[in-house]
Amino acid sequence: MITPWDVSGEVDYSKLIKEFGMEPFHPLLEKIKDPMPLMKRGVIFGHRDYDRIVEAMNKGEPFAVMSGFMPSGLPHFGHKMTMDEIVWHNNRGGVAFVAIADMEAHVVRGLSWDKLRKIGMEYIKAIIALGLTEDSVIYFQSANENVKDLAFELATEVNWSELKAIYGFDNETTLAKMFVTAIQAGDILLPQLRLYGGPKPTVVPVGADQDPHLRLTRDLSLRVCIFAYERIDNGVRVRSRKGAEYLEAVRDLNFDKKVYQEHIDLFGDPDEIIKAVREIEIEMEGYAFIPPSSTYHKFITGLQGGKMSSSKPESFISLLDKPEDAAKKVMSALTGGRATAEEQRRLGGIPEKCVIFELYTYHLLSDKELEEIERDCRNGELLCGKCKKYVSEKVSEVLSDLQEKMKEAEARLDLYNLIL
Ligand code: TRP
Ligand code: SF4
Repeated sequence: MITPWDVSGEVDYSKLIKEFGMEPFHPLLEKIKDPMPLMKRGVIFGHRDYDRIVEAMNKGEPFAVMSGFMPSGLPHFGHKMTMDEIVWHNNRGGVAFVAIADMEAHVVRGLSWDKLRKIGMEYIKAIIALGLTEDSVIYFQSANENVKDLAFELATEVNWSELKAIYGFDNETTLAKMFVTAIQAGDILLPQLRLYGGPKPTVVPVGADQDPHLRLTRDLSLRVCIFAYERIDNGVRVRSRKGAEYLEAVRDLNFDKKVYQEHIDLFGDPDEIIKAVREIEIEMEGYAFIPPSSTYHKFITGLQGGKMSSSKPESFISLLDKPEDAAKKVMSALTGGRATAEEQRRLGGIPEKCVIFELYTYHLLSDKELEEIERDCRNGELLCGKCKKYVSEKVSEVLSDLQEKMKEAEARLDLYNLIL
């Protein structure tokens, strides 16, 4: 079962792609220059409209990357994966937006504002430590008036039956929980406000459970715009959602056209037509949003199997764990090893069932090293004891380094665009 607030059972990702109507990620790989390891390794397995981001990256055009974190527990390796994705896009020229979802955590997990503030700051330090540039916009939802105003506007287009269908809400659902879905839509469209330079392709890297939010936001991004577009033979049909008087400006465009009462048909290159009409909308101070793109990564497994959860401390390695404590946690993790050493030498280990191998794949190793470990594990040359020792060294190294950088980040916080 998968909802934005609960994931249970085993997840079949290809089924998920079909049921949710996402696109598989791997066909895009060849178009991306020097893709992230997470992309090559299939951890990022699905997307919506990511082609648009690839194009912006390849042409050096403006784009944004945005995602959010619920500060309901300390940041762990699962969050680090999303942070790495944000930072990667940021390094490729995307302006980064990071939401600390304290409003969501307050409703969904019931934490006090004080506590959320404190935990939220650790997420901010962590993502800065991972390399986010100073022009990034980092904010607490509760402190961001633009997000709240935008959420309210977006909420004008959402009704109860839609919420029920998308999120499975029922008679017991609170108004606040419903409202945070609009807040998240506000987060996702924030980078496209006039304040931040207007419409631009935006990618939202998330876990697959967040897709309902993206489906809703993509719909809303179109519904709040003035103009609607429909492809016709040799051109585009343009309608106004906010009254026929808006169409007047479209009449003056320099394309062959047929003008009707309720719409105008424009003939020529569809991309150029849409671009021209969107510019009119921006001049009129409409949103002219571009539907957000998204990438979906797999869930990270808890150290004892099952789901990694911030409410079960033994299930994850926090980015704030003392390196030696983290090393101990790793030593007791579930592996894909056999019952006895003899059996393992004979049959080999099973990396796809191994939490340690997942850690290597998501966070720790280069392609070459990963290949070697996989080979040695499968052919029985590498035993789990030795492998775990190695992984715990790697984890300690990563943590010491990150924690050092988090201290530095704390001292540099005032250089950032923070909305606290
Ligand atoms: N709902 C997300 C989570 O549970 C957090 C979040 C808030 C978010 N705003 C967002 C994710 C905007 C992506 C984009 O983890
Ligand atoms: Fe996992 Fe390493 Fe054991 Fe293989 S040898 S099952 S990768 S811990």
